[in-house]
Amino acid sequence: MANVVVFDELGGPEVLRLTEVPLPEPGEGEARVRVEAIGLNRAEALFRAGGYYYQPTLPASRLGSEAAGVVEAVGPGVEGFAPGDAVSVLSVGMGMSRHGVYGDRAVVTADTLLPRPEWMDARTGAAIWLSHLTAYGALFEVGRLQPGDHVLVTAASSSVGTAALQLARQIGAVPIAVTRTAAKADRLLRAGAAHVVATDRDDLAERVREITGGEGARVVFDPVGGPGLADLARTVAEDGALIVYGWLDPRPAPLPMTWPLNVHGYGVHHVTRDAGRMRRARAFITAGLRTGALTPVIDRTFDLADIAEAHRYMEADGQVGKIVVTVRH
Ligand SMILES: NC(=O)c1ccc[n+]([C@@H]2O[C@H](COP(=O)([O-])OP(=O)(O)OC[C@H]3O[C@@H](n4cnc5c(N)ncnc54)[C@H](OP(=O)(O)O)[C@@H]3O)[C@@H](O)[C@H]2O)c1
Repeated sequence: MANVVVFDELGGPEVLRLTEVPLPEPGEGEARVRVEAIGLNRAEALFRAGGYYYQPTLPASRLGSEAAGVVEAVGPGVEGFAPGDAVSVLSVGMGMSRHGVYGDRAVVTADTLLPRPEWMDARTGAAIWLSHLTAYGALFEVGRLQPGDHVLVTAASSSVGTAALQLARQIGAVPIAVTRTAAKADRLLRAGAAHVVATDRDDLAERVREITGGEGARVVFDPVGGPGLADLARTVAEDGALIVYGWLDPRPAPLPMTWPLNVHGYGVHHVTRDAGRMRRARAFITAGLRTGALTPVIDRTFDLADIAEAHRYMEADGQVGKIVVTVRH
């Protein structure tokens, strides 16, 4: 038998329930993974509540896109992975209701598996890829961030935000973290920010002008959107890049009129669906992990039995970094 998290209706964390199901067999092109750790992402809270870009198949929808564990069985047609292989799972397509990884076992498509080297523990393997691939593609492939450039990272305490701070540091760029609360300032400095703008204390545009000597940030990396996008555009350097990759503020966002400005709607698929970008990103991130320059910032770890509590914690916005769930076997 397997223990998996399902939900039967849209709603808050309380709709999540742990249930026993017969051990699922992998089909064509699929693998079954014995899950050891799960990385939580805001997208999963949105999916659970019906606010994501596609809707769950109810009842008994599965949930979760990122995990680490060991391959237990493979279906027909799977090449490159075999039972016993340590892996990470990064599943960012539209199949979460079927392939969700919250549980002690998950059946996923084999193209969402990444080999996990023996030096990478399960918590790191579950927490590193979505955050760092998302930030890597935006900052380097789209934003063309260079050493010495300022990069403004909004929602900087998110898992993607903390990854962006580290990646910018790694190439010698200057990361400016934005948070809504000054209470997180010290933790953001420890996570790699060169400067912190707390919007409950500072005027965003004025502070960024000060920090950048009036020039603005070469790249602004934003998952918030909403009406604040117009103000945010005023922090971008002339002809710089405003890269929007989420809608934490679900209200409509105006098209900024501070031209010349390059506005990008960005998704991690920009990296994961392109073999060349994915090869570069994996090489860069793996090299950073090996030297210690990169490491997932893990805010707190929960047990799988406390999955609803972990979602409540995520949605209370107190974290700096990734929330991880571990699985006891
Ligand atoms: N496009 C893609 O491919 C892609 C990939 C991965 C993630 N994402 C998106 O990236 C975002 C972050 O994901 P995550 O899993 O890293 O998040 P997370 O770890 O849950 O972080 C959330 C943080 O964002 C800030 N925040 C929350 N609501 C906000 C609001 N309404 N306005 C401003 N700030 C807000 C809070 O920080 P403060 O309280 O400190 O401000 C909070 O701590 C999500 O929108 C997610 O969907 C997109």
